[in-house]
Amino acid sequence: MRERVLAWLADHVSAERIEHILGVEQTCLELARLHQVNEQEAALAGLMHDLAKFFPPDKLLSLAQQHGVETDEILTNSPHLLHAEVGAIVAQREFGIENPEILAAIRHHTLGFPGMSPLSCVVFVADAIEPLRGNTPELEVIRLTARENLYKAVRQTCDYSLRYLVSRIKIIHPRVILTRNWALIQEKQFLETK
Ligand SMILES: [Fe+2]
Ligand SMILES: [Fe+2]
Repeated sequence: MRERVLAWLADHVSAERIEHILGVEQTCLELARLHQVNEQEAALAGLMHDLAKFFPPDKLLSLAQQHGVETDEILTNSPHLLHAEVGAIVAQREFGIENPEILAAIRHHTLGFPGMSPLSCVVFVADAIEPLRGNTPELEVIRLTARENLYKAVRQTCDYSLRYLVSRIKIIHPRVILTRNWALIQEKQFLETK
């Protein structure tokens, strides 16, 4: 399966993006091991998370519509955000992935989702902190947190993304905020049970 996915990726995304994807795959493995998440599922979800990254906007929109993906004004105006949802469609159609956890992790890797599973949290955080994302102090903090408290790392990843979007005057999808609030509650509960 891995070789098949890599061959497909070579035809559909840039070489640079493949390096990022391999970084996410490896980071998923490490986080899964630390947090008792199925390592194979995490690695496969990481490998497949950006399948649709380079699909043009009209293709993203038409595939999303064909497959009944719920869209809203923000998604139709920024179809790139749909590469997560459409990536899951490609994983299913092209590679026969039926595991709902893996498909959800691909679907939620960009905006997150309140109540998402630990596997989805692993992929969401790994996408942000894989080694090629750089070494800013903020990223280093998330990398350390991710080893201890996965939910706190999800919240920090949302905050990181929100700060970026605000500073660049970009549209914010409300699901990032819902994910952030949910993760904040989980992070506190996790600390209380320790
Ligand atoms: Fe992505
Ligand atoms: Fe990514």
